[in-house]
Amino acid sequence: MSSFTETILSWYDANARDLPWRRTHDPYAIWLSEIILQQTRIAQGRAYWERFMAAFPRVEALAAASEDEVLRLWQGLGYYSRARNLHAAAKQIAALGRFPDTPEGIRALKGVGDYTAAAIGSIAFGLPVAVVDGNVYRVLARHFGVETPVGSTAARKEFTALAQSLLPPGRPGDFNQGMMDFGAMQCTPASPACLLCPLAPTCAALASGTVDRLPVMQKAAAVQTRRFDYIYLRWQGRTAIRRRGPGDIWQGLYEPIVFDRGTLPPDPLGRFAPTAPETESSTGPVCAPEPRPQLLNAGVRHQLTHRTLLVDFYLWEPAAEPVLPEGYFWIEEPELDRYAKPRLFELLLAALTNPA
Ligand code: ADE
Repeated sequence: MSSFTETILSWYDANARDLPWRRTHDPYAIWLSEIILQQTRIAQGRAYWERFMAAFPRVEALAAASEDEVLRLWQGLGYYSRARNLHAAAKQIAALGRFPDTPEGIRALKGVGDYTAAAIGSIAFGLPVAVVDGNVYRVLARHFGVETPVGSTAARKEFTALAQSLLPPGRPGDFNQGMMDFGAMQCTPASPACLLCPLAPTCAALASGTVDRLPVMQKAAAVQTRRFDYIYLRWQGRTAIRRRGPGDIWQGLYEPIVFDRGTLPPDPLGRFAPTAPETESSTGPVCAPEPRPQLLNAGVRHQLTHRTLLVDFYLWEPAAEPVLPEGYFWIEEPELDRYAKPRLFELLLAALTNPA
């Protein structure tokens, strides 16, 4: 075992925070704590954990509760999809008849990502999987002098491999929780307690005076606003859609005709031409068949992590059959229900029956 690992474990033995879910081996209780702590601080989450354990001492009770009951108990914690996932996962576990005890089984629970799966697996079942969160990035970046900007995929890989290489197979849960507590109490983001740090003799950042600079944070991408036109095209009871390809958001979902106002001419509908004799006109662009698209709703705002979309919704019922842009195909309108759609497309459909 590396001296780093030994130091974290002995520090944890002496300084671990006394938390109720650390006094049990019940995977249900540990899972519940990890879901609550995903976006909530311990000081606030603890009371919720106690309330849930009192109301639903076993996973079967949580699975049998109504969604309303679960949401009511969750009230005030925010990110309500967590509560809905919690409820769905409780039903998954109840249906299995026991808590899953393999990395894949745990990861398959609704609401459980890589971090939470590693935490539950290591703490509840002693599985040798390292957790990587903000605390772990900070402790490792400082101690080992890692300069890779946190936030990139490369950093995720590098830090995960490093954490994994340090994990003691005999005490993975204690090591993981030791890293969390060490990052939260000792190696804090601002004013870390380096004078009293048991890792000070081997800390690269302390030796080189870079504690304040590490971990290197990747610059947050500026939130940009982009404008699109979403066009519901209706021609003889049919509409045109396209499946979104890989490499972008909403992969595999279907979209209506979309114009990106950043990259296309200001009147992109001019690109549509009737199927009827298509001629290169010397007097200007080929015009869309009349009548023009009808504006249903302007400036519909949709927030993504690094982008705000502002979308105008149109209904276009041309008089002649239009030529579809690349990748689009016709479907009968009632078939729309069968295609998975991003929320913006759902909003466009709602605007068709109920324009702003
Ligand atoms: N944050 C998320 N899980 C935690 C745990 N098990 N201990 C301390 N902090 C945490």
